[in-house]
Amino acid sequence: MIGDSIVADPAIAPAAEHKPQAAVPASGRAHVIAVANQKGGVGKTTTAINLSAELANRGEHVLLVDVDPQGNATTGLGIEKAALRQCMYDVMLKSAQLGSIVQPTRIERLSIAPSTLHLAGAEIELVSAMSRESRLRSALAPVAPLFDRVLIDCPPSLGLLTLNALSAADCLIVPIQAEYFALEGLGQLTHVIDLVKAHLNPQLHIVGVLITMFDARTNLATQVVDEVERYFPGLMFKTRIPRSVRLSEAPSFGMPIANFDPKGRGAAAYAALAEEVITRA
Ligand SMILES: Nc1ncnc2c1ncn2[C@@H]1O[C@H](COP(=O)(O)OP(=O)(O)O)[C@@H](O)[C@H]1O
Ligand SMILES: [Mg+2]
Repeated sequence: MIGDSIVADPAIAPAAEHKPQAAVPASGRAHVIAVANQKGGVGKTTTAINLSAELANRGEHVLLVDVDPQGNATTGLGIEKAALRQCMYDVMLKSAQLGSIVQPTRIERLSIAPSTLHLAGAEIELVSAMSRESRLRSALAPVAPLFDRVLIDCPPSLGLLTLNALSAADCLIVPIQAEYFALEGLGQLTHVIDLVKAHLNPQLHIVGVLITMFDARTNLATQVVDEVERYFPGLMFKTRIPRSVRLSEAPSFGMPIANFDPKGRGAAAYAALAEEVITRA
């Protein structure tokens, strides 16, 4: 029942071990942030696009790495997928240099490493590949120093592509949609984060949990915020992303919200989020 708990799985305990930490980048390279939650439709791609653009608007050189085979971040930044000769698939499986697939976007200082449906094959082909969890980390190593910040847009699964993103990242942002069953699956996500910390990437931590599609008029949204605060004490960003039709329209014009609707609530929210991310870093 909504009145009892919005946590779908009663076995989920608060993620007490995920304490707030500063997002200090490893020296000599960009600060790498994965945007991850294995649930689809929670606002990962919208956040990856708009946070990247807002960081670039603040003077940072930003690379957005699209590791979702759906390539929504790629399309959402106005890149024509059909025209691409290579994408993240070639980097992950064909030893292409990540630098060779990086493209500029219409946004000054924002570049993208695009993905196409070819990347869907990677999830299977990586299973039998050497160093299958650390390919993205190795691919990023020569490129990351050219940027201030790298964001990685993850697919809606906890498969090898997400594992590569978590291994390559300094920290992650977890977008959570403010609606019923919002916390479903978060136990699995925190378990995978713990495994990655133990075996692949000891510094990995959650830099912030982001409430998306928030509608302050509903009791449910406020209840979700309370539940998330209990589950991730102190980790929630102050900024909440409001539900906004303009945010959902912007990608079909290949634009971040800062360009599509600069005076709207969505742009203001992502601008505030960028400030928070910069402060936490
Ligand atoms: N704050 C928001 N308000 C309204 N619609 C949103 C908002 N954030 C995302 N959406 C829409 O919700 C859908 C899922 O968002 P998306 O960012 O693609 O999620 P994910 O990458 O987690 O699957 C998309 O159609 C997107 O345009
Ligand atoms: Mg997405």
